[in-house]
Amino acid sequence: MIMFLTKEQEEMLSGVKGEAIAKSMELIVKIGDVYNAEQLIPITNAQVAGVSYLTVGESIFSFFELLSKDDVKVKVPTWLNPAGMDMEKWREMEISEDFAEKQFRIVKFYEGLGIKPTLTCAPYLIGHAPSYGDHLAWSESSAVSIANSFYGARTNREGAPSSLASAITGLTANYGLHITENRNPRILVDVKTNLESFSDYSALGYWYGKKFHGLIPYFANVQSLSINEAKILAAALAASGSVALYHAKDLTPESKSVDIENVEEKIEFTESNKKEIYHHFNQISEGADLVAIGCPHASYEDIKLISNTLQSRQMKKGIKFWIFTSNKIKTVIATDSLLTNLESRGIKVYTDTCMVVSPSVVENFRNIITNSTKAAHYLSRAKTTMVKLLSIDSIMKEVTE
Ligand code: F3S
Repeated sequence: MIMFLTKEQEEMLSGVKGEAIAKSMELIVKIGDVYNAEQLIPITNAQVAGVSYLTVGESIFSFFELLSKDDVKVKVPTWLNPAGMDMEKWREMEISEDFAEKQFRIVKFYEGLGIKPTLTCAPYLIGHAPSYGDHLAWSESSAVSIANSFYGARTNREGAPSSLASAITGLTANYGLHITENRNPRILVDVKTNLESFSDYSALGYWYGKKFHGLIPYFANVQSLSINEAKILAAALAASGSVALYHAKDLTPESKSVDIENVEEKIEFTESNKKEIYHHFNQISEGADLVAIGCPHASYEDIKLISNTLQSRQMKKGIKFWIFTSNKIKTVIATDSLLTNLESRGIKVYTDTCMVVSPSVVENFRNIITNSTKAAHYLSRAKTTMVKLLSIDSIMKEVTE
């Protein structure tokens, strides 16, 4: 199929508006051709991954060089995914000077393009929630799923270069999850067990993603879906199964309008399926040396829950407790007693990064407890790291006295 381009889009592609714009258009059109898109559509905003030096490596700098040939700026509001370190407390995280220097260069370059250095995978928690029906170009997998599922916005899971290309041009190819018919569920999941903690939601997502890679689920019998439950479920689905959209009966905006008559399979998620996932991530035989919370980045309520559960207890010796969030949320918890309360018990709150994209975690810790299957999944890929999945309640019982 030949994609229709407007006169202005043709000009952008031909290089009339500069090489960076032409290269960006080339990439978007190429992707559109692969997926038989008929046209390009405007996006409301973009979220760009490819920020941590750990994940992008040296090659990012030659890509930047290419873009710097023109004085190009992003055309729509654009947010950045987490970097490889807390931009202030990187020394405390034992990040090397060399890594830090490269990380600062990367973030500075993105800022030069007009991108806001939000450095979070949860921009929706800090005032950048999309609206129903918005077309976006987001690239972090959990954020993509939340935008599609919880807010009813529309985005494919973009790669770092394609989300940046869309940010620069303000356009994306109209295919995949931008199209209504492609948003119908394929599998109906009757949730037969209680989801009592965030980690239970995470177990559901991980279990489903492993079984039905890439297929949109429709969850029935989920009793509640706060943004905090929704985001940990989204992250798990994306981590184990690259699932970028889910529906939950009466709880997500498109659940009433999608076609559930024609799903391909109906299955149940039972107590024993849930236990299977906890068992899968029960790898630590001796003591843990780190608790890592905040995958996806912790919200104000997530942090408050930890603080409430802590009550008057102190961390046990030999265990560190790190919470990852955005700078903006940390500023909010610093204005009440929340941050002081946590820090006085030895709990650190790091911003701009996370347990997966910072080298600090896998390089310095061997036995890590978390409440997120996404974090557990990626951390346990390092052969030297063992993980354990627990609810916040159980974590606090295990690591405090
Ligand atoms: Fe976010 Fe890092 Fe998890 S980017 S979703 S906290 S792996």
